[in-house]
Amino acid sequence: MLIDSHAHLEMPDFRKDLEGVLLRAKDSGIEYIFTVGTEKKDWKRALEIASLYPNIYAILGVHPHNAKEIDEETYPALRKLCQNEKVKAYGEIGLDFYRNHSPRDIQLKRFREQIGLAKELKLPIVVHDREAHQETLEILKSEKAWENGGIIHCFSGDEKMAKTCIDMGFYISIPGSITYKNAGPFHEIVKRLPLESLLVETDAPFLTPVPFRGKRNEPSYVRYTAEKVAEIKKIPFEKVAEVTTENALRVFRLL
Ligand code: NI
Repeated sequence: MLIDSHAHLEMPDFRKDLEGVLLRAKDSGIEYIFTVGTEKKDWKRALEIASLYPNIYAILGVHPHNAKEIDEETYPALRKLCQNEKVKAYGEIGLDFYRNHSPRDIQLKRFREQIGLAKELKLPIVVHDREAHQETLEILKSEKAWENGGIIHCFSGDEKMAKTCIDMGFYISIPGSITYKNAGPFHEIVKRLPLESLLVETDAPFLTPVPFRGKRNEPSYVRYTAEKVAEIKKIPFEKVAEVTTENALRVFRLL
């Protein structure tokens, strides 16, 4: 049994064959999938999918790319949607200083605000950090963002950052890019992190692991990421599956 802790099933990439995607996930032993609605136009669809399938849950919030679109209607709408019992976390929120689709000052402000909203809703947070490690850590600390737990999704920082986040009570989620040829330095980090703090994710339709790199990613492929973690840590695949599943159930409060 495995859990894909982060996918985007509401994205148009899955509109045509969602049933097939979910069937393949089931056949691959993916017990639960957490689908992340990152902007207004995706929230309802994410919730709709979660309502249709017992093994799918939703995560809602405003992605740093879309931080500039937040207006006075955004938080009231999220407050309402997040009351739905299928919503298990708030996100993904954070900073993306690589693409910079929203101005940095706005990203910083909206990140802080959304940590506050997640706390109000008593939901764990899902954090997106791309090339903004220092600023992300500063905000997580100063906002005491760990109160309801959370996940650093698609982790890309160094070992020191990973350990700081783990000390704050966050889980580190490993994406499919760990299977890429240039992921050697990341392997060294994962080797030294406790399995008890790790999750696996696809971020589907993005970041497709080897051997399907170049194609659309989907939840069934989370198996390749878990297999790579097992190989790096020199432990059985079953152990990785068991512990990361338990970790996910704990952070999303399904235990
Ligand atoms: Ni994502």
